[in-house]
Amino acid sequence: MSVLKVENLSYHYESGEGIRNISFEVEYGDCLALIGKSGAGKSTLMNTILGILPKAEGAVLVDDSLDIRDISFSPQNQAIDWYLDVFDNVYLEALFDGSENGKAETLAVLEKIGLGGKEKEDPTNLSGGQLQRVQLARQLVSKAKILMLDEPTSSLDVITSENILNHLSSQCEDGKICIISSHDLDMLEKYCNKVLYIDNGELVFFGGIDRFLKTYNHLNEYKIEHAGQLMEKAKKSIGQTFKVSEWNPLMVEIQEEQSLNMLLKLLIEQDIEIHSVEQNSRSLKEIIQLKG
Ligand SMILES: Nc1ncnc2c1ncn2[C@@H]1O[C@H](COP(=O)(O)OP(=O)(O)O)[C@@H](O)[C@H]1O
Ligand SMILES: [Mg+2]
Repeated sequence: MSVLKVENLSYHYESGEGIRNISFEVEYGDCLALIGKSGAGKSTLMNTILGILPKAEGAVLVDDSLDIRDISFSPQNQAIDWYLDVFDNVYLEALFDGSENGKAETLAVLEKIGLGGKEKEDPTNLSGGQLQRVQLARQLVSKAKILMLDEPTSSLDVITSENILNHLSSQCEDGKICIISSHDLDMLEKYCNKVLYIDNGELVFFGGIDRFLKTYNHLNEYKIEHAGQLMEKAKKSIGQTFKVSEWNPLMVEIQEEQSLNMLLKLLIEQDIEIHSVEQNSRSLKEIIQLKG
């Protein structure tokens, strides 16, 4: 069985909103991107998996060898121990997890996350972004095998976000599991291997990121770079036969009864100087934007 298996999980708020019938499973080594618009149900799903929202329907099955300390969660809203300084907020997590080298690990993580020098700071003096880093630092020192992070990079700068995702994905390569919800789709595409896409509380897609891109890319769409601007006459003639979504560069969807050769022949007849032809492939971010 998988390390974490979610079966037909549903949770309804009194308003009627929530999540419906979500199923997926992850193995050690998986870095799962949890994506969907604001209000799609990402936080609800995480909170339901963790049992923070009780009375859910469905099942969450976890490998027998794991206990509660093997799962660590960074909620969307800050969970800071306000009476402890920055160092102790992180060090405590390392201690809870039985780290032998907790002090050194805490210092190293604070440095990595851009809080070097802030160890003695009282959290009430920190900015929102700095508080988010403290919370993340706790996860980075944790020995948990499954890390769940709800929008960990939402108030961080690009460089710190990249450092963190890089760190998390290398932990996955070492055999952990990360489940990360975020709107940084380019970054998720770079660092995650699986996607769980939810919309309106329902699962739209779960599987490998490669399969997601393949499924939602129109592979019959071509991008053609050409010289100069197209004349109205040429546009008319191309537009009559082909489905064009953009003119410069030219983006054309080839329908079933058509071929790329037919298109190229037409372009040559119109004296269009072709620079390059490539099958279009969209990024995760472009696909989600188009679907939204
Ligand atoms: N405590 C709550 N009570 C009632 N409805 C809620 C509550 N929290 C979230 N919702 C609703 O449930 C839906 C999913 O919310 P949420 O899981 O927070 O989405 P996301 O994390 O993807 O932005 C939204 O329509 C939201 O308004
Ligand atoms: Mg949320």
